[in-house]
Amino acid sequence: MKNVISFFLLLSSWIYAVEGKHVYEQKCASCHALYIPMSTLEKNFMEMDNRLLQLKAPTMNQIVYRLKSRIGDPSGDEDMHRMEIESFLAEYFNTPDREKSVCLPDILTYFETMPSMKGQLSEEEFEAIVSFLYDYDPKAYQEKVLHYDAFEEASIKALAEDKMIMIFYTAAHCRYCKKMEREVLSDSDVIAALEKEFVSVKIDVEREKNPLDFTPTMTPTFLFLSPEQKQLYRVPGSWVKEDFLEILREAKEKYSQTLKKGAE
Ligand code: HEC
Repeated sequence: MKNVISFFLLLSSWIYAVEGKHVYEQKCASCHALYIPMSTLEKNFMEMDNRLLQLKAPTMNQIVYRLKSRIGDPSGDEDMHRMEIESFLAEYFNTPDREKSVCLPDILTYFETMPSMKGQLSEEEFEAIVSFLYDYDPKAYQEKVLHYDAFEEASIKALAEDKMIMIFYTAAHCRYCKKMEREVLSDSDVIAALEKEFVSVKIDVEREKNPLDFTPTMTPTFLFLSPEQKQLYRVPGSWVKEDFLEILREAKEKYSQTLKKGAE
């Protein structure tokens, strides 16, 4: 029986050890947003008096940044720094005290003092949340979105930067377009590949005028143009990441073939 209990204790501490995010969602997310870009936060506080976002508490990206730069010695040994932060938090969670807050005084004026967490976090949960905060990487939570230009802008940019144009034909009811946007066009490798060598345009076939003399027969369809708007490659259908990256490689290949032909 004892073994069974210690097995479950072990198991639960292991679950919490990997799931600091889970503790955050259960116990902190009702007040603290996980990530909001700095530019939006500035607008919210400096210009809009917190009316834009109506935050109840500082966001985790604000807190972690302040915490790690103000508590202990940020340039010293990492394990030491972790411990310094851990003991600061142990005290703050038990007896929150505005006087000791790491938050900017101007920002604090928008908030009440944090309620005490006394008795609300088990030791494992506390450890997990400390790791979660210490290892928090804002890049992991930044919204990843592909930037699209309007066709006119894209044409100018493509020539100026010597990039191909990718046109993504989509439609409001198109489920596979949404799936691709969610799973492929928001992937950081795909975004990096597109931003490096393409200018992207998105056209809703039902609502927007198509600037080209080509009508896609289905959505999604991807059309690749040279910087001079020569149509090089059309690919209808929804693709997984690896296949889509391959399609981008093929599009580049087609473009370099036309360059070679032109040079002959
Ligand atoms: C009921 C709302 C609420 C909940 C729930 C809450 N907080 Fe807070 N927290 C606040 C507010 C408001 C502040 C800013 C005022 C302050 O510092 O006391 C704050 C401040 C903080 C700070 C900065 C401390 C400092 O030096 O100012 C940390 C770190 C923090 N919270 C972590 C957490 C974690 C981790 C959880 C979940 C375990 C949590 N909070 C749950 C409202 C909340």
